[in-house]
Amino acid sequence: MLWFPVDRALATSLTVQVYEQLRQRIMLNELVEGARLPSSRELAASVGVSRNIVLEVYDRLLAEGYLEVRPQSGTYVAAGSAFLAAEAAQPDGTTFAAATGKPVERPKPAIDFRAAHPAADYFPRAAWGRLAKEVCLHTPERTFGYAGPEGSYELRAVLARYLLQARGVRCHPEQIVITSGATQALHLVTELLSRDRPARIAVEDPVTDEMRTIFTYAGAQLVPVPVDDKGILPDMLPAGERPDFIVVIPSHQFPLGGTLPIQRRIQLIEYARRTDCYIVEDDYDSEFTYEGVPVHSLQGLDPDRVIYVGTFSKILSPSLRIGYAVLPARFVEDYRRLKWFADRHTSTLEQLILARFMEEGFFDRHIRRMRKIYRKRRETLVSGLRKHLPQARILGESAGMHLVVELPGVAFTEAVIARIREEGVQVYAVEHYAMVRGRHENRIVMGYGGLTVEAIAEGVERLARAVADSEYRLGPSIGWTFTN
Ligand SMILES: Cc1ncc(COP(=O)(O)O)c(C=O)c1O
Repeated sequence: MLWFPVDRALATSLTVQVYEQLRQRIMLNELVEGARLPSSRELAASVGVSRNIVLEVYDRLLAEGYLEVRPQSGTYVAAGSAFLAAEAAQPDGTTFAAATGKPVERPKPAIDFRAAHPAADYFPRAAWGRLAKEVCLHTPERTFGYAGPEGSYELRAVLARYLLQARGVRCHPEQIVITSGATQALHLVTELLSRDRPARIAVEDPVTDEMRTIFTYAGAQLVPVPVDDKGILPDMLPAGERPDFIVVIPSHQFPLGGTLPIQRRIQLIEYARRTDCYIVEDDYDSEFTYEGVPVHSLQGLDPDRVIYVGTFSKILSPSLRIGYAVLPARFVEDYRRLKWFADRHTSTLEQLILARFMEEGFFDRHIRRMRKIYRKRRETLVSGLRKHLPQARILGESAGMHLVVELPGVAFTEAVIARIREEGVQVYAVEHYAMVRGRHENRIVMGYGGLTVEAIAEGVERLARAVADSEYRLGPSIGWTFTN
């Protein structure tokens, strides 16, 4: 399988990105002479772009001599097209100079309002490090062998208690399977509910890239359901052919930031019961609520219809790769089997450290601490926006680590995002996350979890400067469109 990331937030078109990725691999001999390329359909599915883009790129590489077509066989890397360039691009944005082997930093936007990045500077290193040492020294020898696919009982037991108390999730530890993040949990749910054919999944629109990629890669058919500033609109769920499941992010929808009201939660459950489908609840950002009382989980309303997915990526760190699925009892055995096939089990040592971290109260303390820090970061962003962009409407700021800024009369096209980047600020157009285009053109997402208050304050000033300057600098011809 061939896969590489494409970034819809970049000013560079998807066609150029796919072309560059393939050309680089051929030049660097990563795709070797005579290697067969995947079919355009396969590559389009794995990268998450349209097939036309791949066809266009293949045509261009053929014309330039990098590829050759062998009739009735396929497309191959042509002889003599490898060439060791001086610098090999690395996927993380650094480059390696071939001569020295030392990484060379590529210039990055100075202030990046990327969402879903927790505050890495506040990872509880001391407590985690102490527990890691204790677990490693004192855990029984069996910890160092293979374990069951469902994960450590210690972690599942403490997690079940936490989820009941904090989120109103009703389950036994036996209903929890520990996964490599929510990403794997969602992937395995798709396999579980596909039943020998591609799943039909009702998905909030707009939604995260990760979700779309996970589901489309599994070959699923996505049915977009519109979202407003409170979350999914259950009245817009498909009236005809039912989906196999509906995926929702009810605590703090990504990207629009809504918290789903109880009336809509009930509507969702009623729809699922009536049509005999399931609801997959991704409880993204639920720990960080700043206004009002956190709404309890959908799972608590109907544990038999809802598969609940969670992660420690946002509270602690995405590098842990620990998430989980809470399943109706009848699905547990199949899900355990799928987890075994995927990667056998998640690291036991990390799970045991996390279990102790939770049991000994560090987890609750860490959440309380982070809530204060994110609240401060959020206040800095909101007050900066009110001061420097008073015409902006702010959405989804009552929870989580990101919010949405709506600017009346502005369309955040690629050219406009690029103009803002010139000012040293990276923001993300909501349209980038949309399946049905044209509903959110005047909105951007701003994540603040991973930025200091100083960076946030400076970033908002720069953003306001770029906005004020843009009409004059860009003009409507390159995309800064003023409507009404
Ligand atoms: C909707 C959603 N849920 C959860 C996550 C967390 O994924 P993971 O737990 O695999 O790090 C992401 C990733 O950004 C996401 O987009």
